[in-house]
Amino acid sequence: MDYPKQSPGPNIAFFFIFLSIVLYLSIWSSSLTNPFRSFLQTQCTIPNTTAIDAPVDELEAALSKASMANKTLIIAVINKAYANQEIRDDTTMLDLFLDSFWLGEDTKALRDHLLLVAVDRTAYDRCRFLKLNCYKLETDGVDFKGEKLYMSEDFIKMMWRRTLFLLEVLKRGYNFIFTDMDVMWLRNPFSKLSKNETEDLQISTDVFSGDPWDEKHWINTGFYFIRSNNKTIALFDKWYSMKDNSTGQKEQDVLLNLMRGGVIGELGLKVRFLDTLYFSGFCQESKDFKAVTTVHANCCRSINAKVHDLRAVLRDWKKFNKFMSYKRFANTTMNFRWTGHFGCWDSWRKGNQTKS
Ligand SMILES: *[C@@H]1O[C@H](CO)[C@@H](O)[C@H](O)[C@H]1NC(C)=O
Ligand SMILES: *[C@@H]1O[C@H](CO)[C@@H](O)[C@H](O)[C@H]1NC(C)=O
Ligand SMILES: *[C@@H]1O[C@H](CO)[C@@H](O)[C@H](O)[C@H]1NC(C)=O
Ligand SMILES: *[C@@H]1O[C@H](CO)[C@@H](O)[C@H](O)[C@H]1NC(C)=O
Ligand SMILES: *[C@@H]1O[C@H](CO)[C@@H](O)[C@H](O)[C@H]1NC(C)=O
Ligand SMILES: *[C@@H]1O[C@H](CO)[C@@H](O)[C@H](O)[C@H]1NC(C)=O
Ligand SMILES: *[C@@H]1O[C@H](CO)[C@@H](O)[C@H](O)[C@H]1NC(C)=O
Repeated sequence: MDYPKQSPGPNIAFFFIFLSIVLYLSIWSSSLTNPFRSFLQTQCTIPNTTAIDAPVDELEAALSKASMANKTLIIAVINKAYANQEIRDDTTMLDLFLDSFWLGEDTKALRDHLLLVAVDRTAYDRCRFLKLNCYKLETDGVDFKGEKLYMSEDFIKMMWRRTLFLLEVLKRGYNFIFTDMDVMWLRNPFSKLSKNETEDLQISTDVFSGDPWDEKHWINTGFYFIRSNNKTIALFDKWYSMKDNSTGQKEQDVLLNLMRGGVIGELGLKVRFLDTLYFSGFCQESKDFKAVTTVHANCCRSINAKVHDLRAVLRDWKKFNKFMSYKRFANTTMNFRWTGHFGCWDSWRKGNQTKS
C-alpha cells in the first residue's frame, strides 16, 4: 500500500486555494450588494411590485402571448394521434393543418395567433418542436394519446375536458375561434366572419339551410367563433353542467339539444349559423372555390380517411390557385369541382374498426 507515503503537500495547498476563494467571494459580495441595498432603501421608494407583477399563471401567459391586440386568438386541441406519425404514415393531421395556413390566402400570419392545447406529452413535445404556441392541458387519470373511436367513453371524456377548458378561456375574457385540426384554413376566416359585436357566437353547420338565424341547424362544434361575455360564459357553463346528465351523448349533441330547447332565447344570445359556401365540410361542400374559407373533414370516421381526403382538398386548392395565376383565366367562371371524399365515404362502410 502506498497511501502512507503520500505527501500532505497537495491537500494543504488545495485547502488554502479554497479558503482564498471563499474569502474573495464574501468580500466581493459584501462590497457589491450591501451598498446597492442601502442605496435602494435610502434613495428610492420600493416599487409596488404586487400591483405591477400580478401573478400570471401558465394559461394566462399562453393566452396573452397568442392573442391579437383585441384579445382574440385561435385554439385547437391536439393529441398524440394527430401529432405523431405511425410507421406507415408520411404525414400527420397537424402537418396538414399547418400546411393549410401556408397554402391559404392571407392565413400565414394567423399561425402566430394559434394556441395548440396539447392533451398528452407527445403532442406537447411536437408542438414545442415546431415552435408554435403550446399549452399543456393536464387531466387526471385519462389517457388521451391514441385515436379515440368515435363515441367511445374516452372520446366523450376528452370532449368534455375540452369544453371545461374553453369555458375557462371565456371567463378570462378572450374571444376565440375554436377549430378542429381536421379543418383546412384556405382563407382568413376573420374576413368572412361577422364583425358585429352583438353576435355572440358564429358556428359552423353540417348543412346550411339558407337562413343564418335558423336555430334548427345541425351545428358543428369543429369550427366556431365566440366572443367572451356574460351570455357566452353562461352558455358554456350550462353546456358543461350537462356533462353528467348526458350519458352516451357527445358534447356537440348536448349543445344541439340545448339550442333546440331554446337556450339561445333564454340567455339572450345572438347566434349566427355559418354558410357552408364559406365554412364548408365533407357533409356539404362549398360550391365556390372563390369563396371557400375552411374545409372540415366532417361526416368522416377515421383519422386515416380524413388525412387521405384532406390531402386531396389541399391538392384541389393548389390546382385552383395555379389556374387562377394565369391571367387569361382569372375571369373564367369555370366550375372547379372537389375531388370525391372516397376515404371518408369508405370509413362508414367498413364499419367501426378504425385503427390509425
Ligand atoms: C400597491 O398596490 C396595492 C394593491 O394594488 C394598493 O392597494 C396600494 O395602494 C399600492 N401602494 C402604492 C404605494 O402604490
Ligand atoms: C382582431 O384583430 C384582427 C387583426 O386586426 C382582426 O382581423 C380581427 O377581425 C379582430 N377580431 C375581432 C373579433 O374583432
Ligand atoms: C349589429 O347588429 C345589430 C342587431 O342586429 C344591429 O342593430 C346593428 O346595427 C349592427 N351593427 C353593425 C355595426 O352592423
Ligand atoms: C354582466 O356582467 C356585468 C359585470 O361585468 C354585470 O354588471 C351584469 O349584470 C352582467 N349581466 C348579466 C346579464 O349577467
Ligand atoms: C337531468 O336529467 C333529469 C332526467 O332526465 C332531469 O329531470 C334534470 O332536470 C336534468 N338536469 C339538468 C341539469 O338538466
Ligand atoms: C374580366 O371581366 C371584366 C368584367 O367582367 C372585364 O371588364 C375584363 O376585361 C375581364 N378581364 C379579362 C382579362 O378577361
Ligand atoms: C361495431 O360494429 C359491430 C358490428 O360490425 C357491432 O356489433 C358493434 O356494436 C359496433 N360497435 C360500436 C361501438 O358501434
